Amino acid sequence: MTFSIALVPGDGIGPEVVEQAVEVLDAVGDKTGHVFNYVELEAGGCAIDSTSEPLPAETLETVKQCDALLLGAVGGPKWESLPGHLRPERALLGLRAGLGMFANLRPARLLPQLRTACPVKDEVLVKSNADGKPKFDILIVRELTGGLYFGERGRSADGKTAFDTEKYSWMEIERVLRVGYDAAMGRGKKICIVDKSNVLESSRLWREVAAVVSKDYPAVETNFLYVDNAAMQLIRAPGQFDVIVTSNLFGDILSDEASVLTGSIGMLPSASLGATVDKGCRMGMYEPIHGSAPDIAGKDSANPLGTILSAAMMLWYSFGLKKEARLIENAVDAVLDSGLRTVDIAGRSERTASEEIVGTRTMGAAVVKAVENGE
Ligand code: IPM
Ligand code: MG
Repeated sequence: MTFSIALVPGDGIGPEVVEQAVEVLDAVGDKTGHVFNYVELEAGGCAIDSTSEPLPAETLETVKQCDALLLGAVGGPKWESLPGHLRPERALLGLRAGLGMFANLRPARLLPQLRTACPVKDEVLVKSNADGKPKFDILIVRELTGGLYFGERGRSADGKTAFDTEKYSWMEIERVLRVGYDAAMGRGKKICIVDKSNVLESSRLWREVAAVVSKDYPAVETNFLYVDNAAMQLIRAPGQFDVIVTSNLFGDILSDEASVLTGSIGMLPSASLGATVDKGCRMGMYEPIHGSAPDIAGKDSANPLGTILSAAMMLWYSFGLKKEARLIENAVDAVLDSGLRTVDIAGRSERTASEEIVGTRTMGAAVVKAVENGE
């Protein structure tokens, strides 16, 4: 099949890591016969420089014509003193809302090759794991276009009182829960819905919706946790979780916490999903969870694996190409097994002696080779 992919390399290390992900996608295309066409677009700081807007209307309109969006990173010190509505980060919120990408998937799993990057002890990591192995494999599904981020906000006339609103409709909750349940069906068949229903009315609605939606997924075990307890459980026994579904703000916080468990922010991908569109594709925005790292930009030292794994998520979640996504994931595994490390993930395994520190391009090229050799 043929797919059109919008590329927003963005700022800092964004262009370098996106370039490597494109090489890997092309290798997958060559091997499997799929065709990926790219349209490169501006958003973030570079767009502010050339159009004085973080998210030019043309970028949003063109992305809407594509099947999916791969984004590097936006922002940097150059634009930090701009007022809030003109900052590069606005491009992210504008893309999420403008494309209706209501579900944000943030996986966090322990990579055996980077075991010592995880700050948690073996005796904690083995908890809740039937096979007694130190591991966790969590998928956080964060609601992304509602709640406190998009609710009514304001100030009193004297400016001394301020408010933000947590507001959710049944429809907004149901559609993100379904993304969570569908994901759970393809994984460990467990879902944990995180809320604060002992206090918040909106959380009580989440539970009502969950009671109905869960009936459509009898194979999935549903649990509920209050967010304060969930924050504790993530550190106490991360192995107990499979899929976590939660609101915009709680998901923002818990996903940062989960990323620390993996200890390797340069490795982590993410997907933001919208509604299903034609051709069976689901529009999605894919990006590494790391930032633009302006201090190392242009030095060929950034880790491209988070973006490469984001491209794998694109193949699976937007295009339904599960086998092809596994091809990329297995290639990344093979490259890590071979000892190649970018500097951010060096010295994190028990086999430091056989590690070789490489740059962005060499790491990308190694994944391309592993895709070519993979099955
Ligand atoms: C994230 C970030 C954003 C968010 C910021 C940059 C607006 O923290 O993607 O998690 O809060 O959603
Ligand atoms: Mg965040």
